Amino acid sequence: MKNLNVNRSPLFYVGDKYKLVSEIKAYFPSTIRQFVEPFVGGGSVYLNVEAENYLLNDINEYVIGIHRMLLSYLGKEKKFFADVENLINLYGLSFSYKEDRVPQALKSQFVKTYFAKYNKEAYAKMRADYNKGNCSDSLLLYLLLIYGFNRMIRFNSKGDFNLPVGNVDFNQNTVNALNSYFRLNSHKRTHWTALDFEDFFKSLNLNEQDLVYLDPPYLITFSEYNKLWNPDTERRLLRLLNTFNTQGIRFAISNVTHYKGKVNDIFIEWSKQYNSHSIKSNYISFHDNTIKQFNEVLVTNF
Ligand SMILES: C[S@@+](CC[C@H](N)C(=O)[O-])C[C@H]1O[C@@H](n2cnc3c(N)ncnc32)[C@H](O)[C@@H]1O
Repeated sequence: MKNLNVNRSPLFYVGDKYKLVSEIKAYFPSTIRQFVEPFVGGGSVYLNVEAENYLLNDINEYVIGIHRMLLSYLGKEKKFFADVENLINLYGLSFSYKEDRVPQALKSQFVKTYFAKYNKEAYAKMRADYNKGNCSDSLLLYLLLIYGFNRMIRFNSKGDFNLPVGNVDFNQNTVNALNSYFRLNSHKRTHWTALDFEDFFKSLNLNEQDLVYLDPPYLITFSEYNKLWNPDTERRLLRLLNTFNTQGIRFAISNVTHYKGKVNDIFIEWSKQYNSHSIKSNYISFHDNTIKQFNEVLVTNF
């Protein structure tokens, strides 16, 4: 079902909150001074929340780099789309937003995978150029994400972006998400950092009019960024939230308590002292591509 009043982030982030943001937002206070997101990812939540300003952070500097790059084009959106088109043409990628470049013969032969077939070599060249440039070009990285496998960002141990081509391209959905992103950010005051959540919080001065929304990696599910998470980081985070609570700072944290027979006891025990709201959702696992019922919650201290 289409989520009519919700704007999807143009990062199409794995595990984003796009489908759940209306449900989650319903628990938020009606006025928020600073909206604080230590695990902002693609930004699907802050984009859809009204506040006076936004303090946004993620440990992944590449993700923050893409946000910063996009925001550097605010007010210059035409230039953004022109720069994108130049790169698409330079590498010879498909561009279904503008025109159908894939020959009929390829479409008939590879009915479901013709974008991947068409873009394979151009994508490999773009990826090699990105890696040669020390991974510093966030616009090129954004295009690698848009044309790449499952629209993910992944680097190998040598620090090279290493995902293969995907079966998608720069299409109408991408343009819609980008236009919404530019439109929404044009009247938001955002401040971005790429820190571990604990360092991020050290730099802040919060009060009871603020809201901290947290969507950390989930201890018991699977995704690329969950590799960064373990029971110690989970405990470290939950202890911090107890401190916020004693200081009168409001927080709301998303998490998964049950998944495929696994149970997050650390979180469940901790959450008993606060308000737990069940969030109805389906979870599509990147590993097996099946939809499994699982138990997602939003825990608030207000
Ligand atoms: C579930 S995702 C957030 C998704 C986001 N709500 C959205 O809608 O796109 C969790 C994020 O936490 C980040 N992360 C992991 N460990 C972190 C840490 N120690 N400090 C800050 N961010 C971290 C990951 O890079 C990832 O982007």
